[in-house]
Amino acid sequence: MIKIAPSILSADFTNLGADMESIKTADYLHFDVMDGIFVPNISIGIPVLESVRKRTDMFLDVHLMIDKPHRYVKRFAEAGADLVVFHLEADQPQDIYPALEEIKACGKKAGLAIKPKTPGELLLPYLPLLDLALVMTVEPGFGGQKFMADMMPKVRLLRKAIEDQGLACELEVDGGVNPETAKVCIEAGANVLVAGSDVFKAQDRAGRIALLRGDRA
Ligand code: DX5
Ligand code: ZN
Repeated sequence: MIKIAPSILSADFTNLGADMESIKTADYLHFDVMDGIFVPNISIGIPVLESVRKRTDMFLDVHLMIDKPHRYVKRFAEAGADLVVFHLEADQPQDIYPALEEIKACGKKAGLAIKPKTPGELLLPYLPLLDLALVMTVEPGFGGQKFMADMMPKVRLLRKAIEDQGLACELEVDGGVNPETAKVCIEAGANVLVAGSDVFKAQDRAGRIALLRGDRA
């Protein structure tokens, strides 16, 4: 089943409750955390996550774009994330394994993300431990960028590894997803699609989510 995860990075933060309500037919709510160090932008963090958690039962997919995420994964898990995803490039291997364990010890799902320049092969050793693998289809940091179709071989590689090993790991793409590029991602093997600007700029957000998912009208 294809899942759509609208990114609230594209929401109006003065109107966040209503914007969350407008995307409630989606499968996940994608929550982008940026620290101005791992990526050249700063977004939202723990207090906003706590408020969002109180307001919705939606599955909260928290994407940490922060340096040395092992320092914070537990706090995001406790603040209400259902899934905590952090970047492979942001920590040392000796810190990555304990961070994944720490998330799971909180009873939450754990995932790893890779930036466009990171080969998919680097994620392979971690796949059996992951609930979700995230392939960035833009350079992380900003919404509204152009989709990088050249990431699709990476999606195919990871989908094949997941299938070959019979893993339960979900495969997510993030960046530049619209109805056209969504089809390309699904065809390559992604099953969770993050979409920020495309969903939030739509008048009919529920209709847009259904379109991205490929639901029949
Ligand atoms: C980018 C973020 C994305 C972003 C996607 O660094 O991780 O989740 O919100 O935005 P769009 O869908 O507009 O490319
Ligand atoms: Zn994201």
